[in-house]
Amino acid sequence: MVDYFIMKAAQYSKYGGPEVIEIRDVPKLSPSENQVLVEIHAASVNPIDWKIRNGMLGDRGPIKFPVTIGGNFSGVVVEAGSKISEFKVGDEVYGQALVLNGGSGSYAEFSTSNQENTARKPSNINHIEAASLPLVGISALQGLEQHINLQKGQKILIHGGAGGIGTIAIQIAKHIGARVATTVSTKDVEYVKKLGADEVIDYKSERFEEKLRDFDAVFEASGKDIIEPSFKVLKKGGIFVTMTAPPDQELAKKYGVRAMRESTDTTTPNFNRLTELVEAGVVKPQVDRVFKLEETRQAFEYKETGHPRGKVVIAVK
Ligand SMILES: NC(=O)c1ccc[n+]([C@@H]2O[C@H](COP(=O)([O-])OP(=O)(O)OC[C@H]3O[C@@H](n4cnc5c(N)ncnc54)[C@H](OP(=O)(O)O)[C@@H]3O)[C@@H](O)[C@H]2O)c1
Repeated sequence: MVDYFIMKAAQYSKYGGPEVIEIRDVPKLSPSENQVLVEIHAASVNPIDWKIRNGMLGDRGPIKFPVTIGGNFSGVVVEAGSKISEFKVGDEVYGQALVLNGGSGSYAEFSTSNQENTARKPSNINHIEAASLPLVGISALQGLEQHINLQKGQKILIHGGAGGIGTIAIQIAKHIGARVATTVSTKDVEYVKKLGADEVIDYKSERFEEKLRDFDAVFEASGKDIIEPSFKVLKKGGIFVTMTAPPDQELAKKYGVRAMRESTDTTTPNFNRLTELVEAGVVKPQVDRVFKLEETRQAFEYKETGHPRGKVVIAVK
C-alpha cells in the first residue's frame, strides 16, 4: 500500500481553452477492484483531450468537473485492485486512463486505469516514448491491420502523415510492404520521407486527388473533411477508413468503394500487438517536444497551434 495523501494533477473545472487548466493539489486515489493505481512517469497530448476540454463532446461523455486531463500514460504499478490478475506492484505499464473510459486522467502524479486499458510497457523504449504511443499507435494498427487488412504491394494513401496517428501508420504500412503516399504540410515533406513515405503531397499547395489514382486504401488521420476527394483516388472495391466523421454510404456506393469510421479500441490485446511491433523495431515513437506537468497549458497551446510532428509529451516524474 502506498502512503501518500496529496498529489499534483492538471485539471479544469469549466470548458474552455488552455487557460482553464490549473495545476492543483488533489486527494489520493484508490483503485477499484478491476483497476491498477499507476505512478505516472509520462503522459501525452491527444486531440480528444482538447476536444473534451473545449466542450466539443457536449453531453456525449460522463464529464464531471473537476476533470483531470489526459488518457495516454506510461508508469509503474503501485497498487492493484482486488481482482487484478495481470499486473503486480512494480510492473512498468502503459495505457489509456481517459475519464471517458473510466480512468482518472493521466496528467497527474498518480492515476487509476482499468486493467483492460493497461498493458506491459515495451521494454526497449523509455516512459516518455511509451506515453506517446497508446491512442495513436492502436489507431494506426487497427486501421491498417484490422480494418484495411493492408497487404504487401498494395497502394495506400495516409492523410496527416506527420501527425500522431499518421507517423505510426506510415511505419506499419512500410513494414507490411505497401506503397505509401501521404499528405502533409510543406514543412513536413522531408520528415515523412525519412519515415518511409514513397510519395508525399503537400496539402497546402497540391491536390492529392489530381495526382493519385487506383489506390487500394485511404486511411484518413488528419481530422479534416476530405472524404469525397479521397474516394476519387480509390480503385473500385477499395477501402476508405476515417478517424473522424462517419462517411456517407450513398456516396461510397456511387464511387464503388467501401467506407467506414474507426473507433479506437485501447484494450490489452491491441496494446500487446502494439508492444510486439515496438519491440520488433517496426514502430519507433515520434516525440516532438516534452513539457513538465506544470507546463500543461503551454503543452496544449503548442499542440493546438504549433503544428508539431508526432507527439507532445508531458514528463510527470
Ligand atoms: N475515432 C477515434 O476513436 C479516434 C481515435 C484517435 C484519434 N482520432 C481523431 O483522429 C484525428 C487525428 O489524430 P492525431 O492524434 O493523429 O492528430 P494530430 O497529431 O493532430 O495529427 C493531425 C495531422 O493532420 C495534418 N493535417 C491537417 N490538415 C490536413 C489536411 N488538410 N490534409 C492532410 N493533413 C492535414 C496536421 O498537419 P499540420 O499540423 O502541419 O497542419 C497533423 O500533422 C483527430 O481528429 C483525432 O481526434 C479519432
